[in-house]
Amino acid sequence: MNRPTGHRVARGILALAVLGGLLAGCTSDSRSDGTTATTSSAPTDQELQDQGGADGTTVNQGATAFAQGMEALDSQGRRDFAVGNSFFNQNWVMAPSSTVARDGLGPIFNAQSCSSCHFEDGRGQPPTEPDDPTRGLLIRLSVLDEDGNPQPHPDYGNQFQDRAIRKVPAEGSVEIDVTEEPGRYPDGTEYSLGAPTYRLVTPEGKAIDDIVVSPRVAPAMMGVGLLENVPAETIEALADPDDTDGDGVSGRPHLVEGEDGEEVLGRFGWKAAVPTVRKQTTEAFANDIGITSDEHPDQPCMPAQTGCVDARSGGDPEIDADKVDKIEFYSRTLAVPARRDVGEPDTAAGQQAFEEIGCVSCHTSELTTGSDSAIPALNDQVIRPYSDLLLHDMGERLADDRPDGDASGTEWRTPPLWGIGLVETVNGHTRFLHDGRARSIEEAILWHGGEAEGARDRFEDLPAKDRKSVITFLESL
Ligand code: HEC
Ligand code: HEC
Repeated sequence: MNRPTGHRVARGILALAVLGGLLAGCTSDSRSDGTTATTSSAPTDQELQDQGGADGTTVNQGATAFAQGMEALDSQGRRDFAVGNSFFNQNWVMAPSSTVARDGLGPIFNAQSCSSCHFEDGRGQPPTEPDDPTRGLLIRLSVLDEDGNPQPHPDYGNQFQDRAIRKVPAEGSVEIDVTEEPGRYPDGTEYSLGAPTYRLVTPEGKAIDDIVVSPRVAPAMMGVGLLENVPAETIEALADPDDTDGDGVSGRPHLVEGEDGEEVLGRFGWKAAVPTVRKQTTEAFANDIGITSDEHPDQPCMPAQTGCVDARSGGDPEIDADKVDKIEFYSRTLAVPARRDVGEPDTAAGQQAFEEIGCVSCHTSELTTGSDSAIPALNDQVIRPYSDLLLHDMGERLADDRPDGDASGTEWRTPPLWGIGLVETVNGHTRFLHDGRARSIEEAILWHGGEAEGARDRFEDLPAKDRKSVITFLESL
């Protein structure tokens, strides 16, 4: 089922940087080659297990592991969670409709509900065949002006909506070609990475040229409330934009415009362009589903899209603030699944290697949330997201060449790794990275470049059994 669309063409051998012996006998905490090893008081097994903190972790490991409310919610909280859950799953319909409360879909859109992309609150994958109904991949697009700055496309805006209501033309469809790029570990083991290229075509089949595109799969939802409540200073303190410690890893916060025009920390989305769960929600309603809100009163139509502009609205706004509140609350209080197999020899060895080869320079294992959320379960939690929420230059091979806010075409936010081992159980696939190009956790690691090149090289240099332990560790998250 993970077969990509399009033809496959084998192309040259990937150049492999060979860095010998870096790992031999490393045990110390401070290392001159810039890699990091863990220090000070080691977390207990219970702390390792409670990735979402003592109040925000669920022991559910099944197909609904990402869809659980936090245990610590009170009875009102549970009711709000349940209501938010139903709005998250609700399919919007075209206006006018007898079900006024949920009409206003489109005029152009990508999906009918939040959960069609975040299925079971999990993650999407790219389409696996041309008519795949999966809604897990969306395409942002821009045209570049003379200064190389992205501007909305005059016909399509900032996002490619591939569906539309009756009598309104959709913007078109996406074709993905995958080129196999073979590579080889220093020990001779072969692998192959599938490099995608994207082509957007109009409904008439004409290629849309002169654009830059940023394809993105829907990430999993759980734990976003905890990440939102980590103080900005904590994240900013992890940044090292000029790489003063010389480890090759810099990392910088993505500062974006807040509600009142002030600079705030961006946290969400693959380029950390969105500061809050609320903004992510209202933007998704407007751009992905075509539902207007107080914060986003405009439909995603460009002036040239007259069919879209003239279509009937489902109200002004189409979703009221109370419903947005409930979905926001629901998203924030989704619990993080507990880690499995803590303390097993294989996962413990993998965790140690993960730390020693420098994965933790970006995939920060521990953060503590702040104290001022109105939701008590989100306060003072020691969490283990394995992310610093910072932007890192990941090299040309992962670049989308489409700047987004202050993030360049090569920069991506370190994604949290909690729950990554349950994606297959919840979503039935193992597609990773921003556009789902990696077909396994191993491929995701092998795609790392730029600031992460050192860590990737050290991973490649590991003996096969240690590489496997790193993956076993990640599967336990
Ligand atoms: C068409 C598919 C699609 C739909 C529908 C959709 N999302 Fe998303 N969602 C995405 C993608 C893709 C991203 C990453 C966006 C980016 O990188 O800018 C995302 C990101 C998010 C995030 C941030 C997660 C993180 O770790 O950064 C949240 C929260 C979220 N969506 C909530 C929602 C809610 C609530 C709805 C319904 C109103 C919704 N989404 C509808 C595709 C979708
Ligand atoms: C320089 C920072 C950095 C380092 C070092 C780093 N990563 Fe990452 N990692 C990232 C970023 C950024 C992404 C997202 C890239 C993308 O989607 O294109 C990522 C993505 C991933 C993913 C896929 C996650 C997902 O949700 O799709 C895995 C798995 C992963 N990293 C594991 C590792 C391992 C193992 C190491 C050590 C060998 C490592 N990373 C080192 C920054 C880093």
